[in-house]
Amino acid sequence: MPLIAVLPGDGIGPEVTTHARRVLEALDLGLEFQEAPIGGAAYLAAGRPLPAETLALAKKADAVLFGAIGDPRFEGLERRLRPEAALLGIRRELGLFANIRPATLFPGLEEASPLKAEVVKGLDIVIVRELTGDVYFGEKGRRTNIEGLRQGYDVMSYNEGEVDRIVRVGFEMAKRRRKKLCSVDKANVLETSQLWRDVVNEIAIEYPEVQLTHMYVDNAAMQLVRRPADFDVIVTGNLFGDILSDQASMCAGSIGMLPSASLSAWSGANGMYEPIHGSAPDIAGQGKANPCAAILSAAMLLRHSLVNEAAAKRVEAAVGAALAKGARTADLGGSLSTTEMADAVLQELV
Ligand code: NAD
Ligand code: IPM
Ligand code: MN
Repeated sequence: MPLIAVLPGDGIGPEVTTHARRVLEALDLGLEFQEAPIGGAAYLAAGRPLPAETLALAKKADAVLFGAIGDPRFEGLERRLRPEAALLGIRRELGLFANIRPATLFPGLEEASPLKAEVVKGLDIVIVRELTGDVYFGEKGRRTNIEGLRQGYDVMSYNEGEVDRIVRVGFEMAKRRRKKLCSVDKANVLETSQLWRDVVNEIAIEYPEVQLTHMYVDNAAMQLVRRPADFDVIVTGNLFGDILSDQASMCAGSIGMLPSASLSAWSGANGMYEPIHGSAPDIAGQGKANPCAAILSAAMLLRHSLVNEAAAKRVEAAVGAALAKGARTADLGGSLSTTEMADAVLQELV
């Protein structure tokens, strides 16, 4: 019986994760679920954002269903005790270097995007974001410089092995789709990016069927608003991928629509499935959160960890059918509560 670790986390994390779990349960696949605290919730319960028991459960599970972490009450804590440290820690400990963030516009959501309908029409892109390196995991700290001024620093670096494995995920993804890969970097300024670009070009020789382009991240941010549907697969580093995926979410109508899969291998491995959004303290506890990103993350869990494409498609189709009938939470311009939206999806699950 496959074991699913459920880590609801903070804020709207538990509110949306409960419905992703309901959807998985409704499929009747004989899954076993075990829940554990993470983030601010774990700090309150155990004094640490990533308790050893939570990490052990995540390691032993076949897949992890993650909600969101983050709590303004803990922003003043030393960094290793903050909720965010748990998310970074679990990604690193599980070796989840590949974060797959699809941004798809479901038909009918054109009006939910602040961009014009004709600009976002047909949007179907995947951002492949590196997840365990970059400036996120380099040396960081505070010091006093020679002028006596306080200085903060975070070292950005990638080694060629880290670039190689994520770029291959990008090419493999593009090969299975419209065969266009755009590598996003800042090679005109950053040496980290120049190495990234060199490695991409070396690997490209192995994928002659994929049309490769390189784009600077500032231009990519602009093109994502100008002609987002022209992209197919974007591969990029941890920081650029974090920023561009939140931006891409608005091309798809709302950040409440974007799921992700964090993987340690292309397929079949244990992975973590996480909406790209955070704990949304501004709407937490109000029943307003859109559960679709969490539900679509469950679909990705079915696809990548349980290798059950049919079940994944059933879940995605149910979300599409509910939206087609007009089901909308507030972020999409509607008035359904989190539970009502999830119920609408569950009703379409055939
Ligand atoms: P956020 O993603 O939590 O919220 C940004 C905005 O989007 C807010 O206005 C929020 O209400 C809205 N929003 C997000 N998800 C939504 C949903 N499902 N339905 C409707 N509206 C939604 O980002 P933030 O406000 O910058 O960060 C809040 C906290 O979350 C911080 O502590 C941050 O570190 C953390 N965070 C965690 C994750 C994660 O757990 N993966 C991701 C991003 C931010
Ligand atoms: C995300 C979040 C995280 C990140 C934070 C909360 C550590 O923004 O999952 O996109 O930057 O990766
Ligand atoms: Mn983010």
